[in-house]
Amino acid sequence: SNPQPWSQRFEGALHPAIATFNASISFDIALIEYDITGSQAHAQMLAQTGIISETEAEQITTGLEQIRQDYRQGNFQPGVDAEDVHFAVERRLTELIGDTGKKLHTARSRNDQVGTDIRLYLRDQIQQIQGLLHQWQTTLVELASKHVETMIPGYTHLQRAQPLSLAHHLLAYFEMAQRDQQRLSEICDRVNVSPLGLGALAGTPFPIDRQFTADQLGFGGLYANSLDGVSDRDFAIEFLCAASLIMVHLSRLAEEVIFWASEEFKFITLKDSCATGSSIMPQKKNPDVPELVRGKTGRVFGHLQGLLVLMKGLPLAYNKDLQEDKEAIFDGVNTVKACLEAMNILMSEGLEFRTARLNTAVTEDFSNATDVADYLAAKGVPFREAYNIVGQVVKVCLADGKLLKDLTLVEWQELHPQFSDDIWDAIAPQQVVAARNSIGGTGFDQVRKALARATSILSSD
Ligand code: ARG
Repeated sequence: SNPQPWSQRFEGALHPAIATFNASISFDIALIEYDITGSQAHAQMLAQTGIISETEAEQITTGLEQIRQDYRQGNFQPGVDAEDVHFAVERRLTELIGDTGKKLHTARSRNDQVGTDIRLYLRDQIQQIQGLLHQWQTTLVELASKHVETMIPGYTHLQRAQPLSLAHHLLAYFEMAQRDQQRLSEICDRVNVSPLGLGALAGTPFPIDRQFTADQLGFGGLYANSLDGVSDRDFAIEFLCAASLIMVHLSRLAEEVIFWASEEFKFITLKDSCATGSSIMPQKKNPDVPELVRGKTGRVFGHLQGLLVLMKGLPLAYNKDLQEDKEAIFDGVNTVKACLEAMNILMSEGLEFRTARLNTAVTEDFSNATDVADYLAAKGVPFREAYNIVGQVVKVCLADGKLLKDLTLVEWQELHPQFSDDIWDAIAPQQVVAARNSIGGTGFDQVRKALARATSILSSD
């Protein structure tokens, strides 16, 4: 018997270091169940088309099922000598059922096989990630519903800008997650295309039925061109792009949580279940969870970049370079899942908003200055003129160490005769937030509508 899984053309064995270098079994074992499912569909198709007998197909299917069970029970752990998961399963099958096992690879190549496996894997994982996103969105909605009336400073340039409903701030992340959901659904249509039956690169002379295997495996369509189909990894790049955007969104919130927890902001308290201490500074409570999420984001971006570079110079069709796609895809999947889970725990039970502090924070700044200008504009003063007047008001206040609400009516009226004693109501934070009742704004009524809309989105899928 030959020393390696391929043909008799070879006489010598691989250098052991090269065997290890060449092998993908250490990581592509993650595909084993998809590989088995794909092979079972292929074997049934071979029988259906009369390429092998029904009995042979049955033997193969049963043998493969045995391998699945053995693997699940930890009794099948192929080593480097198997090279990859595809060889490992085929070899084991032949050990189990004898020569019939050698018929499985009729009218197939590892190239269409591995393409099938990754697509089945990714389709599954995308569904799981969508489930986690759904949980994440539920957490955001639940938290938001508790904080419609809680106010938080809103920022641009990280400078206090206008006060917000905290729910509005949280629901911004709900919207991002909703786009992530849509993106994943769209990508899934392109993941879910069958390359099985394309052969090594050119198709096969056997009278196969590609539609049969595609239907068996739940694929929505077939690749039209064999060269394209065996070497296409667009779907994986698209997935990593969507994964990167999920990470961007988690990372932006992670960054906010990190500074909200700081002594400078004091907007939240981290609970012990989601914070860590320092080995030397006894007073410390560190936001490791959001920091790790922020940090892991870079790693997912790296996989996206890695795969783009991997593909850019590849001539048609399959090249071994493609074996490098797996760790990028697997780690991208695992990282996004882990981060969604961790952020979900952090936001649902790992922190508390300091509502009293938040509600006072918005009274201690000039984030109602726009509303003073709006006040004058509503009384007929052209907005730009009003804006300039308020600029002077702020300047005077800053010089006197006062806030807008501290000005007396006399002082207001010296600045402009249109000011009257309803000015204080107009610039109270509660009113400033409530007033922004335009569609998509932070006005409390809008936020309640947004919450209702988010809740109905969640219950509809
Ligand atoms: N382990 C290989 C991969 O991951 C499987 C396909 C191998 N095909 C080949 N012609 N060498 O890409």
